[in-house]
Amino acid sequence: MEENFKALEFIEGKLRLIDQRLLPGKLEYVTCSTAGEVTEAIRSMIVRGAPAIGGAAGYGVYLALLEAGDDITLFNKLSAELRKARPTAVNLMWAVDRVMETAQSSGYDKDKVLSEADAIVREDREMNHRLSKIGISVIRKGSRILTHCNAGALATCGWGTALGVIKEAHLSGLGIHVYADETRPLLQGARLTAWELTRAGIPSTLIPDSAAASLIRSGKIDCIILGADRITANGDIANKLGTFMLSVIAKEYGVPFYSAAPTSTIDFSMKEGKNIPIEERDPDEVRKPGGVLMAPADIDVYNPAFDVTPHQNITGIITEKGIIYPPFDMNIERIRNGETL
Ligand code: MRU
Repeated sequence: MEENFKALEFIEGKLRLIDQRLLPGKLEYVTCSTAGEVTEAIRSMIVRGAPAIGGAAGYGVYLALLEAGDDITLFNKLSAELRKARPTAVNLMWAVDRVMETAQSSGYDKDKVLSEADAIVREDREMNHRLSKIGISVIRKGSRILTHCNAGALATCGWGTALGVIKEAHLSGLGIHVYADETRPLLQGARLTAWELTRAGIPSTLIPDSAAASLIRSGKIDCIILGADRITANGDIANKLGTFMLSVIAKEYGVPFYSAAPTSTIDFSMKEGKNIPIEERDPDEVRKPGGVLMAPADIDVYNPAFDVTPHQNITGIITEKGIIYPPFDMNIERIRNGETL
């Protein structure tokens, strides 16, 4: 089963993206025909979500090659700009490096480069379906599941990670109910996850982020499932701001806390979460939600887009290669060595 929308699609030599800034009000598309346009689409969050920006960037590298022709210096420069469009989600760097390697090893063969970008998208969808099927084993019948941000089809190359598990549970007749955090300041939960949940007909309730703590304490949440932007070798995860806070509350009240992500989100080379670069975004995202001034125009703002959850607060990480449980460092190393768990 697939969604009837695609966050990204490469059609007739151009990358077509859903403009996620306009959802849920408008379903409109933006077309990128240069690497620079893809970089800007990632930066401005027309496309967002770790696997989706990786998928988009793969095509960005292809477009960079078309633009640069024989000018390898220009190709490298355009690709490097793509690679640093956003700093936290490792899927972006992973995808750019993967397609650049294909470019180099194939003697800059355009067809091979395009096939590699296509493979990233195809494999991401497959990994998401696989991890979703694996992930439903942690969900009991009638579970009330809390999720944060958007880790659905919009955030990936198709189907979704955390929301993929949730959709799979719904389709399997587990009779779940989803609580979606609105996810300030950009409201990915309210605008995107709620949109996906209602389209899929999944019973769900939208909550202000700060309602999660009392819901958890009152025993109304059976488990938390959310995505990840980067998983380090020790099992720490960076994910949307607010994830860490949820993990602390979940631990306090004994609620299972899962992250779902494809193994392309694991940064095997980074030892621990404190090394993950955390993106800080425009203060006006906080001062002016939806473009309306809601705070003094000159107030100082701290607006990190992500936070890091230590592995001690995580019950398990659901991947297409199985569920990673503690000891996370040993089990992540097993995945690195090609094992399935
Ligand atoms: O800033 P965003 O919207 O790109 O942040 C997205 C998230 O934090 C998601 O939870 C994460 O990328 C997982 S997406 C499958």
